[in-house]
Amino acid sequence: MEKILVTGGDGLLAHQLKTIAPAGFEFSFLGRAEFDLTQKELMARRLAELRPQAVINTAAYNLVDRCEIERDLSWAVNATGPETLASLCAEKNIRLVHYGTDYVFDGAKKSPYSEADAPHPLNHYAAGKSAGEQAVLRASPEHLVLRTSWVFGWHPTQTKSFVHTILRAAREGRALKSTTDQISVPTFAPDLAQWTLELLQGNAGGLFHAVNDEGVSRFDWAKIILEEAAGAGLIPAAPPVEPVLSSFFNATMRRPDYTVLDNGKLVKSVGHPAGSWRSGLKKMLAQMK
Ligand SMILES: NC(=O)c1ccc[n+]([C@@H]2O[C@H](COP(=O)([O-])OP(=O)(O)OC[C@H]3O[C@@H](n4cnc5c(N)ncnc54)[C@H](OP(=O)(O)O)[C@@H]3O)[C@@H](O)[C@H]2O)c1
Repeated sequence: MEKILVTGGDGLLAHQLKTIAPAGFEFSFLGRAEFDLTQKELMARRLAELRPQAVINTAAYNLVDRCEIERDLSWAVNATGPETLASLCAEKNIRLVHYGTDYVFDGAKKSPYSEADAPHPLNHYAAGKSAGEQAVLRASPEHLVLRTSWVFGWHPTQTKSFVHTILRAAREGRALKSTTDQISVPTFAPDLAQWTLELLQGNAGGLFHAVNDEGVSRFDWAKIILEEAAGAGLIPAAPPVEPVLSSFFNATMRRPDYTVLDNGKLVKSVGHPAGSWRSGLKKMLAQMK
């Protein structure tokens, strides 16, 4: 029986791992209080107590805008924490699975990014996440990093995904504006959880781009969410969405515009197609009913 410790135990991806947890694995899900990425001694103690064969690190500081303000804390969670955890795991021969982000790229390429493309982060969140994934990959060739984007899915208490935000705005009758110049790949959290376990079982190591099937703009993603939600009876009708450019929001922080990841290496490794975000969306909306 393989023992797996999952960090960030109360988060979205951890919830999906909990839901699919297959027989043959013994999972321990630890929240921030029990396994804090900023506390080395606590992490070392937990690893010694639980003696897992693998750690799946879903914990992260994901509030992209707040990272610019809470620079030290976000760096401690996204960069230094994973680095410390990766070396603790390597010392004890524990495999570490970690998650990166499409935001490590600057968007200049305008065609899908492969694992061989060089990161060029544009903001503090992206720089911290980039440093974290590099440190994990350096610590051991057996460690695994799954780079993903626009993760969405159902969670019993958490409603912060883009799908929830758009539906909330529609229900409250707020005017909806969404960007046509930001393009990435929505990724259904249960699919990401499934690929994680498949790669672990296949003893894969290194970097993988782990996203669903195709790129879409925020504007089209918002429209599709509303159309599908109306079809599923979650809202009476799909309200209009106004297309805008990201410059409309006057943000001080730079965000990449095009960050579609090429999932070819993942598909080859797991031996089946990565699945579509549209079918993931339908499943999520059915759960929300
Ligand atoms: N969601 C996306 O769109 C997206 C996109 C690209 C990459 N990713 C990556 O995918 C992975 C999984 O994301 P997710 O969507 O499951 O995130 P999530 O739902 O935000 O979960 C992250 C968890 O980490 C916890 N955490 C924060 N600081 C911590 C610390 N110091 N020590 C331990 N735990 C801490 C949070 O707890 P609190 O709630 O108590 O703060 C939260 O439960 C992350 O690495 C994320 O960066 C996500």
